[in-house]
Amino acid sequence: MPKVTIQTLRDKKARKEPMTFLTAYDYPFALLEQKAGIDVILVGDSMGMVVYGYSSTLPVTMDLMMPAVKAVRLGAPDAYLVGDMPYMSYQPSIPEAIRNGGRFMAEGGCDAVKLEGGREVADVVTAMAKATIPVMGHIGLTPQAAAQLGGYKAQGRDLAAAVRLIEDAKILEEAGASSILMEAVPAEVAAVITRRASIPTFGIGAGPHCDGQVLVIHDMIGMFDRKLAKFVKKYAETGAQILRALEEFKKEVVEGKFPAPEHCYPMPEDVAAELKQRYPE
Ligand code: KIV
Repeated sequence: MPKVTIQTLRDKKARKEPMTFLTAYDYPFALLEQKAGIDVILVGDSMGMVVYGYSSTLPVTMDLMMPAVKAVRLGAPDAYLVGDMPYMSYQPSIPEAIRNGGRFMAEGGCDAVKLEGGREVADVVTAMAKATIPVMGHIGLTPQAAAQLGGYKAQGRDLAAAVRLIEDAKILEEAGASSILMEAVPAEVAAVITRRASIPTFGIGAGPHCDGQVLVIHDMIGMFDRKLAKFVKKYAETGAQILRALEEFKKEVVEGKFPAPEHCYPMPEDVAAELKQRYPE
């Protein structure tokens, strides 16, 4: 597929052609997502939870993110690649945000970076855009602020909160954001934001009216046997399938069925005979 750029995303928005957006954290998934023609790939800080087993995204660092971003770029050279700015990589100061955002672009080969927050990060978004770092805003449920939000809850459900989100989206666009991701907000709010935005919008748990739909890869392929957010649709039961393979491998090794002759390297018969003579059983 041709390289997906911000212009591709803008054109698709203009044509009202729904876009696809998944997370990836390594080379094999990046390869598959590019093969499937996924438009946008995010190396999300959700990696902390679905790859490293943390209970939140907060422990994720730039040191964890950078190797993942490089691997994903190798697997998906044509996708629009977004690097997720981890907790405290942009909050402390604008120079720090620019330095870390610049690393995603220069070292990681990203097309953009994503950071969480509305009006409170507008000055950071402006400074990064001025520094030639395209920014995807992330509003609604912002997991890095879960402690402030009182947990992982849907946002914008009363009128004041909905209006605030709609304003935040506009503020981010005016601050220079090149796209917006909305998480866990009512479809009605996402529809208003998408209609008013001249930049592409993406939704995860934000209903059908966004310009594109996002899911976390491990959730949508059914990697885990645990309760998932309401907005997740499982398209496969990969975890169960992998578990079956592991159990079968164990059984076959224990029963002496693996490896079979076809999994072994052959040796000329005379060499094998000579070896047997030198090293009798
Ligand atoms: O880190 C992540 O996976 C996210 C999701 C909302 C896509 O930010």
